[in-house]
Amino acid sequence: MTVYALGDLVPEIDKTAYIHPQASVIGDVKIGARVFVAPMASIRGDRGRIEIGDETNVQDGAVIHSDDKFVTRIGNRVNIGHNASIHSRLIEDNVGIGMGAVLMVGSVVAEGALIANAALLHPSTKTEPYKIYAGVPAKLMRDFAKDDPARVAISKYLDWYIEITWRYPNELRVIE
Ligand SMILES: CC(C)(COP(=O)(O)OP(=O)(O)OC[C@H]1O[C@@H](n2cnc3c(N)ncnc32)[C@H](O)[C@@H]1OP(=O)(O)O)[C@@H](O)C(=O)NCCC(=O)NCCS
Repeated sequence: MTVYALGDLVPEIDKTAYIHPQASVIGDVKIGARVFVAPMASIRGDRGRIEIGDETNVQDGAVIHSDDKFVTRIGNRVNIGHNASIHSRLIEDNVGIGMGAVLMVGSVVAEGALIANAALLHPSTKTEPYKIYAGVPAKLMRDFAKDDPARVAISKYLDWYIEITWRYPNELRVIE
């Protein structure tokens, strides 16, 4: 797997972003600065454009796909946990997407919100900013304050993933 053009749809990837060779990036995709895309992630811009902001990470097995009716926009400093499935229209800045969360077609996640691990966000859902949504289907759980332990942890994950966008291209090697 790697980065693919599809006809005249050519991914546009900032030179400071890191895409692991076992990730797949296809077509009409724009990826910002210091973004980390982990092994087995799939960002497939064959049906609608996908734009990912700066310092966001897309962890192992996460899937991002768009729709022919909208552009999928993902903001800056968004932490996308392992195996999340994203079909959203918009994810604003400083959002956390938990492991295994499913964000259905056209959903919108407002700034600073957290979609909990394993939550299912309904297509019509537009979250409030700085709140946690959890469960199946996802419902408002509580506030997501600046000093919430989960927010502090996610902020550290984000910084760590930014750090490895430099480390991986310099230090990752295949062992024969
Ligand atoms: C939502 C979240 C922040 C809750 O954490 P917390 O406040 O420490 O919650 P607790 O573990 O104390 O549990 C509180 C209650 O919420 C429930 N709960 C916790 N996580 C839940 C989830 N993901 N979905 C549904 N309910 C959940 C617990 O069962 C518990 O219920 P109870 O009061 O009836 O016993 C956390 O589960 C989460 O999803 N974090 C996301 C982490 C992330 O982004 N991971 C990706 C990193 S790679």
